[in-house]
Amino acid sequence: MRNVILVGPMGAGKSTIGRLLAKELRLPFKDSDKEIEQRTGADIPWIFDVEGEQGFREREQAVIAELSMQDGLVLATGGGAVMRPENRQALHAGGRVVYLHTSVEQQIDRTSRDRNRPLLRGPNPAQVLSDLMAMRDPLYREVADIIIETDERPPRMVVQEILSRL
Ligand code: S3P
Repeated sequence: MRNVILVGPMGAGKSTIGRLLAKELRLPFKDSDKEIEQRTGADIPWIFDVEGEQGFREREQAVIAELSMQDGLVLATGGGAVMRPENRQALHAGGRVVYLHTSVEQQIDRTSRDRNRPLLRGPNPAQVLSDLMAMRDPLYREVADIIIETDERPPRMVVQEILSRL
């Protein structure tokens, strides 16, 4: 079976939904951010601090190229993975791509308690999320085979919809 690949912004629920979906499909679950952390032995904020966003994006591209070539994974990607055309191509070729669409309001709500996202460390994370969404929404749509709405829906309901549309 080909991979099922989740894309979408920070706070879309990619990791939570990916883990549940993998269980339902009896497939292994991989998360590109976790994979980067395991390989480097460092967390994402540390990588941003030491290597800059550029360094992180290089690592992200390498992991996405490798994982999307495998078969039978549920793969959650970081919110910025769609920025590079090489990644969009790899993801599209790697399986069914599911865009977890999420409003900026929900993104703000779901990321507000989490300190692990370097792009949201500044004084106005809501503005950052809004700007990123304006830039990236067309790219998520470009790469997606399926678009799923996650607002006001518990993860299990989102998983059921994905299963019915795969
Ligand atoms: C990023 C999203 C994060 C992580 C990194 C950059 C982004 O992943 O890859 O902090 O550019 O949107 P999540 O979408 O899993 O939070």
